[in-house]
Amino acid sequence: MNKETVLIVGGSSGMGLELARSLLADGSAVVIAGRSSERLAQARAALAAVGDVRMVAADIAHEDDVIRLFAECGRLDHIVSTAADIEGAYELLPDLELAAARRVFDSKFFGPWLLAKHGSSRLAPHGSITFTSGIAAYRPAPRGSVVAGVNGALASLAYALAVELAPIRVNVVSPGWVDTPIWQHVAGDEAPARLDAMAQKLPVGRIGRPGDIADGIRFLMRNGFATGSVLHLDGGHRLV
Ligand SMILES: NC(=O)c1ccc[n+]([C@@H]2O[C@H](COP(=O)([O-])OP(=O)(O)OC[C@H]3O[C@@H](n4cnc5c(N)ncnc54)[C@H](OP(=O)(O)O)[C@@H]3O)[C@@H](O)[C@H]2O)c1
Repeated sequence: MNKETVLIVGGSSGMGLELARSLLADGSAVVIAGRSSERLAQARAALAAVGDVRMVAADIAHEDDVIRLFAECGRLDHIVSTAADIEGAYELLPDLELAAARRVFDSKFFGPWLLAKHGSSRLAPHGSITFTSGIAAYRPAPRGSVVAGVNGALASLAYALAVELAPIRVNVVSPGWVDTPIWQHVAGDEAPARLDAMAQKLPVGRIGRPGDIADGIRFLMRNGFATGSVLHLDGGHRLV
């Protein structure tokens, strides 16, 4: 396979970091992006044994940052976003601040939309864009209204862009509960106990690993017949 270049927004942590690791191991060129230069540098150091990533600090909630990000990236084969800012987002309605709700939509919906707006012209015709939604849209729970809404909206965005941007393919991966640093924001010290309890409930008997989702994103990137698809990788969570 020719060496492909992949931009991973969110590549400094969790699923995005694991995707970067697996793509580097395949010989792809990888650019990771996120807001914090420090987290990006830590990720680059953690990946050094597998290969060298380029890194660009950018907040995809800001259009100027997205324009600069693509100017620094050059030509790309694939764009992936695993970005999410969910600080303060898991609250019951009376306590959920509009600013926190907007940060969720800025990072998970408008940011990915800006990536498509400014990045699609940089992509090769066989290229793809993959967004990351999540189980909250399909098994909603109290405190999760905004996350459920943004995850559901991402599917419709991908359907529309798959038509508008063709032949570029646009897909969504929808993870269930996966053990990543995001859980510190979701549940703090209770995270291990909540993840363990969910593992007992799931048909697969375990919580997701970042590599489970990275595998799915690689499938969506490379399967030339996949567009406008939502790939559910949730250990059967939608069924229980
Ligand atoms: N883990 C789960 O159980 C789970 C379940 C369902 C869905 N998901 C979804 O899966 C995706 C990946 O989650 P994860 O668990 O891997 O999260 P994570 O470990 O917290 O990583 C999130 C990444 O996004 C970056 N980011 C956040 N806001 C950004 C912004 N405005 N601009 C650019 N980068 C930004 C973060 O870096 P900076 O903070 O430095 O910007 C970080 O690299 C997210 O969309 C999440 O909602 C996760």
